[in-house]
Amino acid sequence: MTIEEFRKYAHELVDWMADYLNNIEQYPVKAFVAPGEVLHRIPNMPPETGEPFENIFADFIKIILPGMTHWQHPGFMGYFPANSSPPSVLAEMLTATLAAQCMLWQTSPAATELEERMMQWLAHLCGLPTHWHGVIQDTASSATLCALLTAREKYSAQRQMAINQYGFEGQPIFRIYASAESHSSVEKAVRIAGFGSNNLVKVPTDDNFSLKVELLEQQIKEDLQKGYQPLCVVATLGTTSSTGIDPIGPIGRLCQENHMWLHVDAAYAGTALMLPEYRYLAQELSYADSYVFNPHKWMLTNFDCSAYYVKDKEALLRTFEIMPEYLKTPLDRVVNNYRDWGIPLGRRFRALKLWFVLRTYGAENLRALLRHHINLAKQFASWLKADDRFELMAPVHFNLVCFRLKPKQGEDESFTEQRNEQLLNAINQTGHFFLTHTRLNGKYTLRAVFGQTYVKEKHVRALWHLISQLAL
Ligand SMILES: Cc1ncc(COP(=O)(O)O)c(C=O)c1O
Repeated sequence: MTIEEFRKYAHELVDWMADYLNNIEQYPVKAFVAPGEVLHRIPNMPPETGEPFENIFADFIKIILPGMTHWQHPGFMGYFPANSSPPSVLAEMLTATLAAQCMLWQTSPAATELEERMMQWLAHLCGLPTHWHGVIQDTASSATLCALLTAREKYSAQRQMAINQYGFEGQPIFRIYASAESHSSVEKAVRIAGFGSNNLVKVPTDDNFSLKVELLEQQIKEDLQKGYQPLCVVATLGTTSSTGIDPIGPIGRLCQENHMWLHVDAAYAGTALMLPEYRYLAQELSYADSYVFNPHKWMLTNFDCSAYYVKDKEALLRTFEIMPEYLKTPLDRVVNNYRDWGIPLGRRFRALKLWFVLRTYGAENLRALLRHHINLAKQFASWLKADDRFELMAPVHFNLVCFRLKPKQGEDESFTEQRNEQLLNAINQTGHFFLTHTRLNGKYTLRAVFGQTYVKEKHVRALWHLISQLAL
């Protein structure tokens, strides 16, 4: 493809992109394809000769698009959103065009320094401790893994950084604690860091799905008596199933008393700290050794963009830094080389989209959007509460509503579950909405998240109308 052809097709694609976003409600939110359907439509072998772009794009429309779930559809209310926005997409276009690999300061000084500034902006916007050091990771899962690896090295026996050097031989059994509602990425990180899933202690939660601190304390004591080494607590600010909030202050004080690392996973709900009414959640964050939240979820910034903060930058760097000759630069002691702040060497230029988003909307408009989403959730929850066919399954802390059809008198729990599963399938079959489920206190629960960039009150009303019609 020549550069002139690229220009022509790029213009055409931008028109298509704008039309797609304008007409997104014409697509079913969730793809209605059978497993293998797309695969079978793609030739087994790669082409030997090049093909015209028109053909490739025609196949994108014909084969790929029907197999896509449309995350930017306002009826996307499942999982947590992975929002984008026009300025974020424009930045991604530039990022793709520059195609810089931003592993070192010298491989793109502007990318490194913009990242540093964006992390400061986010900390300021969310009221995070000002002495923290921020870096963009691909995902919260990677950030949590970084936290556990850094904790492992900082608190390894005999000397710091011992496990990096010598492996686990001679080390105690390390114990990691998180609530029973913590995200599966915590267990994945525990496995990858070599602790073993059996050493992840899942502490029960209370009626609000918040970790019970007294049980955590008891567990730490018991583990100490057994000769284990309590290493780290991963507290969650906004659990995946129900946006439950762990008590950061009391957990932090326990960590301090026991020389443990505190990592806070605020992957989804962290964005809400931009609102003064949620700022109280940041008050005791100074106890945390590391913290992560995802602008790629609720801050209009395309996936991937995860903001990771650490208190002890040196511990992070010493955990990850390896200095092969071919990566050394004369400025290594003066600049940030983000390759040493996480797992991959190569890094995308992710700060640009954040810069575009924060400047286009300004804090004011972002806050207004968050409040709009939270109000939609409150409104939807109030309709559910007023209708005795339904019950709320968790407090609505942010913009996620967990609910189900109530058991009918004398109904076996398994039938209630079946009716709720049927309700969810019926909602999703319409193609207008996509909701997902979870299990709370063992009970099958529907989740509706009102956080999509383009969701309006009319969509929430339409969902409620549909649900009230479908509810048996
Ligand atoms: C609380 C929490 N932590 C971690 C994650 C994982 O996020 P990521 O996909 O960025 O790894 C999620 C995803 O929804 C989450 O809700």
